[in-house]
Amino acid sequence: MKGIFITLEGGEACGKTTQIQMLKEYFKNKKINALFTKEPGGMPLTDELRRLILNYEIDPPLEKTELLLYMAARIEDIEKVIKPALQEGKIVIADRFNDSTIAYQASGRQIMSIDDMINFTENIIDNFTPDLTIYLRLDPQTAFERKKNIDLELDRIEKAGLDFHRRVLEGFDYMAKKEPERFAIIDASKSRDEVFKEILSVIRKKVEI
Ligand code: TMP
Repeated sequence: MKGIFITLEGGEACGKTTQIQMLKEYFKNKKINALFTKEPGGMPLTDELRRLILNYEIDPPLEKTELLLYMAARIEDIEKVIKPALQEGKIVIADRFNDSTIAYQASGRQIMSIDDMINFTENIIDNFTPDLTIYLRLDPQTAFERKKNIDLELDRIEKAGLDFHRRVLEGFDYMAKKEPERFAIIDASKSRDEVFKEILSVIRKKVEI
């Protein structure tokens, strides 16, 4: 494929949303034709899946149901959004992708071992792997302090305890160690401008921006 596929990953309150916003502005100003996606969501069907996973309090999905819903949203995203954009030669930036499932559903929820989850998910998505994964790494304790200050309404997963989020961090760390050539780890406790500078610098190693 002609384009380049970049994912942004990290735990809660790592600053991903802010950084994506800054990247959108940057690409817009430079007139770079990039496509942004967010998982789960972005299309009518996947927005509906997101609602069922995160905000369906009446009858919350079982952990394995949740896993399958995330995977369903990902397949839709890959086939209907990401691959067509890559075929057109675009830079595709995804707000979360498969490493989130490894970190949250395997390491966090402990539905299955990390290695089993890697096999399971790679089978479903036909080994479709990002060219670059930018991991905004933030200690969950710091993340919780940030969240408290912002005081937004929390979804089901954000409400899970500190131990859960520590395991999520371990899951991302595991993947970063396993695939160091794909991962760029950025210390997300730095200022947003410093983090943004580092993000631009790792992207520039892959593509002219
Ligand atoms: P967001 O906060 O980045 O919008 O992500 C939504 C939540 O969904 C977040 O708590 C992480 C979680 N999540 C998973 O548990 N597994 C996944 O595969 C994905 C994509 C997200």
